Amino acid sequence: MDKISFNFKNKTAVITGGAQGFGLDIAKRFLNSGAKVIIWDIDPKMVEKSLKDLNNSNLSSNIVDVSNYQEVDRTVKEITKNSNIDILINNAGITGPTATLWEYDIEMWKKVVDINLMGTFNCCRAIVPNMIKNNYGRIVNVASVAGKDGNANASAYSVGKAGAIGLTKSLGKELADKNIAVNAVTPAGAKTRILDQMTKEHVQRMLSKVPRGRFLEVEEFTSLVCWLSSEENTFSTAAVFDISGGRSTY
Ligand SMILES: NC(=O)c1ccc[n+]([C@@H]2O[C@H](COP(=O)([O-])OP(=O)(O)OC[C@H]3O[C@@H](n4cnc5c(N)ncnc54)[C@H](O)[C@@H]3O)[C@@H](O)[C@H]2O)c1
Repeated sequence: MDKISFNFKNKTAVITGGAQGFGLDIAKRFLNSGAKVIIWDIDPKMVEKSLKDLNNSNLSSNIVDVSNYQEVDRTVKEITKNSNIDILINNAGITGPTATLWEYDIEMWKKVVDINLMGTFNCCRAIVPNMIKNNYGRIVNVASVAGKDGNANASAYSVGKAGAIGLTKSLGKELADKNIAVNAVTPAGAKTRILDQMTKEHVQRMLSKVPRGRFLEVEEFTSLVCWLSSEENTFSTAAVFDISGGRSTY
């Protein structure tokens, strides 16, 4: 099937967690559509591999832990010396272990919320002023169907993603009088490395709830993110776009 093409010429995008999975696929489509892409990730080996595989002069990277505001802010200040940041994809995330809330390791619970929610806050906090100055921005926050429905044995992840949805609604309204759109997306399970963090039974339970009866393909996800990130999205903001194969109906 031919993919719809997007025009991202003269746009610079930061994609967090861009070294693999969803983030890397988004990076590829952005690059093919003319964007300059900067991937942020904490995994230097995966970053190096992806940079080598893609071999594209419009692609660069920073090793950044999105849960560390100082690191995020320092990196944004470096980038914005020479360029605006037009697009931000808050995609970095971890699921953490599969465990009931009352048995959940406390430090791990905080870490999962820190990366999924505070990571999204930190990147928006540091980058939005540049978008305001430029009166242009497209932000897509990668949440999850878990943030809408709540997944048993994944309380930290469900909370982190629900928080990212709330943040999207609030920030979208704060920026609605500018040419800046802030939206969230809520995918169901896709076969990326993140599934290795969960038990097989947990993944099977997630899949059994999806009326489409299969995993989401990364390319299907990328298509939705591309439209939300494009100049063509002039009206939708503060909204949550579902891509859960019918699991969530709101
Ligand atoms: N794959 C799925 O089934 C699924 C479903 C719903 C939502 N999501 C969400 O989609 C996003 C991408 O997931 P994926 O499936 O591509 O996972 P993935 O594990 O393949 O990729 C996530 C990337 O984020 C990076 N990362 C983790 N912590 C980070 C941090 N603190 N700072 C910077 N980078 C960090 C990792 O190194 C990795 O490269 C996540 O937010 C995830 O919660 C995934």
